[in-house]
Amino acid sequence: MTTPPPIAMLAELTHRCPLSCPYCSNPAQMASVDAELQTDEWARVFNEAAELGVLQLHLSGGEPASRRDLVELVRAARDAGLYTNLITSGIGLTEKRLHALDAAGLDHIQLSLQGTTPEMADEIGGYKGGFDRKMMVAGWIKEIGFPLTLNAVLHRKNLHQLPRALEIAQEMGARRIEVATVQFHGWALQNRDALMPTREQAIEATRIVTEARTALKGTLVIDYVPADYHSDYPKRCMGGWGQVGLNVAPDGEVLPCHAAQSIPHLTFDNVRDKALKDIWYAGAAFDAYRGTDWMPEPCASCDRKLKDFGGCRCQAMALLGDPNATDPVCVKSPHHIDLQARADAHARSDAPLVYRPQPPKVAEPAQ
Ligand code: SF4
Ligand code: FES
Repeated sequence: MTTPPPIAMLAELTHRCPLSCPYCSNPAQMASVDAELQTDEWARVFNEAAELGVLQLHLSGGEPASRRDLVELVRAARDAGLYTNLITSGIGLTEKRLHALDAAGLDHIQLSLQGTTPEMADEIGGYKGGFDRKMMVAGWIKEIGFPLTLNAVLHRKNLHQLPRALEIAQEMGARRIEVATVQFHGWALQNRDALMPTREQAIEATRIVTEARTALKGTLVIDYVPADYHSDYPKRCMGGWGQVGLNVAPDGEVLPCHAAQSIPHLTFDNVRDKALKDIWYAGAAFDAYRGTDWMPEPCASCDRKLKDFGGCRCQAMALLGDPNATDPVCVKSPHHIDLQARADAHARSDAPLVYRPQPPKVAEPAQ
């Protein structure tokens, strides 16, 4: 199987964030502030990405607006010829800054929604006044005319707000909403008890999305990430490992997916040492699970193996301690039934939320 060039790159500009969402997928061990790539380093990486074939650049974090040089970074990405999408909570964006981002060529904004009421949103984000501020930012986005996607992260505490989230997306003038049931990676793993949806909620969410897709056809596109612990087949994570996209962490490590650092046997190249092209085509971490040769049974002889590439490696690691195993979400995995029971047990818990901390300012010395 020949390796295609990547289509998309996620640039995690920083792990800093004014919010502290318990479902954050950033790693528990966050990149320190002093290790972050500088403006000129990111600009070089954007050029290398465009030369490699990347078309879409997703600027993310943490909160990318926490970078003072965000406007410069957007300009550099547009100069490199990349389509730029800013993934943000809105906190840290002013009307003036949004106009500057528009002038710099920002193509699209993806705004996160922690809840549809101030009480819910501020509790989940751990940031008082965050909802009202976000609504203000959404108004400026609409006025300036940025194409907008609303990204609603749903879980046991706020899944009942899904119908209202669909209304808010329309009121904001969004073209698309991503209804993303929480995925348990990074920091979020320790909040499975607090956030795991019940089976009934998962079924109800699918019903609401299915009906809304028909009712809102031509008005609002709905992308849907179902509650995977309650599913029978795993997601095609990252579109397949090393198939369509790559992530660059704040400190320049290049990852096949945002949670890849949770797999202990992998080693990651850094854009400070190697060209992005060499990392994509020959990096050890990308080679590890690219294609189908690595697959064990039941994936190796399964007719869905090119559809989902055996599911999520990081999930197999987190749930089974074995990144080479079939994703236990899969009904063909010997661990599927056990996972469903664990999901139901998480959903019955009344554990409190564990909020995400801020990254350290200075890198911790190596042990
Ligand atoms: Fe996908 Fe593997 Fe399950 Fe087949 S056995 S559906 S390839 S995860
Ligand atoms: Fe790493 Fe799914 S998050 S493969």
